[in-house]
Amino acid sequence: MCGIVGYVGSKAAAPLLIAGLKRLEYRGYDSAGVSLLNGGAQVQTRKAKGKIAMLEEAVGGSPVTGTTGIAHTRWATHGPPNECNAHPHHDCTDEIAVVHNGIIENYSTLRKRLIEKGHTFRSETDTEVLAHLIEEAFDGNLEDAVMDALRLVEGTYGIAVLSTRDPGKIVAARKGSPLLIGVGEGEYFVASDVAAILQYTREVIYLDDGEVAVVTTDGYSVCDLKARPVGKGISRIEWDLDQIEKGGYDHFMLKEIFEQPQTIENTMRGRLVVEEGYAKLGGLNITREELQNIDNMIITACGTSWHSGLIGELMIEEYARIRVETEYASEFRYRNPIVDPNTLCVVISQSGETADTLAAMREAKERGARTLGLVNVVGSTIAREDDGGVYLLAGPEIGVASTKAFTSQVVALALLMLTFARRRDMSASRGREIAQAMVKLPEQIQEILEDAPTIEIIAEQFKDATNFLYLGRGYNFPVALEGALKLKEISYIHAEGYPAAEMKHGPIALIDENMPVVFIAPHDSVFEKIVSNIQEVKARGGRSIVITSRDEPALEGLIDFEIRIPETLEMLYPILTVIPLQLLSYYIAAKRGLDVDQPRNLAKSVTVE
Ligand code: F6R
Repeated sequence: MCGIVGYVGSKAAAPLLIAGLKRLEYRGYDSAGVSLLNGGAQVQTRKAKGKIAMLEEAVGGSPVTGTTGIAHTRWATHGPPNECNAHPHHDCTDEIAVVHNGIIENYSTLRKRLIEKGHTFRSETDTEVLAHLIEEAFDGNLEDAVMDALRLVEGTYGIAVLSTRDPGKIVAARKGSPLLIGVGEGEYFVASDVAAILQYTREVIYLDDGEVAVVTTDGYSVCDLKARPVGKGISRIEWDLDQIEKGGYDHFMLKEIFEQPQTIENTMRGRLVVEEGYAKLGGLNITREELQNIDNMIITACGTSWHSGLIGELMIEEYARIRVETEYASEFRYRNPIVDPNTLCVVISQSGETADTLAAMREAKERGARTLGLVNVVGSTIAREDDGGVYLLAGPEIGVASTKAFTSQVVALALLMLTFARRRDMSASRGREIAQAMVKLPEQIQEILEDAPTIEIIAEQFKDATNFLYLGRGYNFPVALEGALKLKEISYIHAEGYPAAEMKHGPIALIDENMPVVFIAPHDSVFEKIVSNIQEVKARGGRSIVITSRDEPALEGLIDFEIRIPETLEMLYPILTVIPLQLLSYYIAAKRGLDVDQPRNLAKSVTVE
């Protein structure tokens, strides 16, 4: 997804901006660009299609100088990825440069109107209209022109703008696309993601929707679109830069898979009260009485986060006895859902910026539901707009394929379930049993991770397969979906997840010796049932990889590969069974020589609809 970095200070801006863009590479992008002010009449801009290294080459070949600049990584929405469509975009006279994340929905009307007024467009992007609108409105002061332009715009934006006609200044504005100001000593930054500026400062100001910031070497100011000043507090970022780096692993994804003993511990720390068998969740912002009154829940999310939501639904219905519906956020926002004041809408998002999830949360709120965010990125839009929340505390997830956020989401949902269930009819001893099983999970994940070489051997066997089937039942059906998603997104192998018993209703026709079938079959209440499904696959010549939790005579001679995991409670198995699936996908993709951390066509944070 697109990324923005801006700098105003006394240092050469270009290297700082390019270093900032490199920190944003993990977000996924297809082109990049940088614009600087050097005291001349025109903005100096360099752009390149492809990786940041290409931009560095362009800047090396034709250097840009100056201490004020903006830069961007683009993920195409309007117009193909090429140098021309890369940001920054200029006005007609190259005096204004704009970088933009988001989508200008009325851009074609605006573009037509601007062309009629004599403006010349050079790209196919929606963003370019902003540069021309600002040009139209410019009357000596850049922020006034930006505000005038934004009043005409429909859609979403996080923008940073500079101009040779009002130098030494960046104007930034936000509506629906994250943006923050970094406060340094005698220097200021603008960024769409804190990772871009963390090496320079930890002090940031998060902009909210409808706010405009003016940043110069003398300081910053924030106002609304009517130029009324807005007071903003400075937040301190506690994440370390080395948390954002690969830490010795070949890929971020692998590092993040191996971090899970620690990350789920972080999710539980200070929240799980083992002896009492309940969870203390400080950020729920809900009275005891309100909590008691909640009689139905909607869980909404996308992708991997939706899969964790399905597991949460099973836990909450089973133990808290509250009716739960888990919905794709993209579907929820466009139907007429039944929501009442006793509905709790749980919104799950790693990034906290997913456009569909945010829109679903706003829709639920609008209809009177109380909203609760399970979010990883602190200060993200969902985290700021929800009524209450539980941070996942999994640290930055850089690999595009979500791994550690998933396990932290399931842990957070288990904590939420305990909070609700213990206030209803779950006994302290049952709560304690679950809590005791939860504290063992980090060690159990570690045990599975130590078996990574076995999974790598299995990956070698199957790396050239073209299709995979993932089957699980009960709590492990969502894990089958997640395993299949992980494989397809990073290895580009077609994979499907099914409830195991559904296989006979269609997918069984696909089974032959070329179709590996992954069974998620820990020893739980549906284990015996799944053994029959394994037999059905064997009878048709299919090859099976079975994740199971103990020596089982019933499996003897039936399976091709076994991955053993430790035993836990039925509701907690997904936190363990997903680990071998993450590793299997990782090793298959790595063996296929693919770009594991930035798979094609994917972005880390999907901030467009
Ligand atoms: C898959 C993946 C995506 C995200 C989805 C939602 O590995 O990462 O499916 O889970 O785009 O993203 P968040 O959780 O940031 O809302």
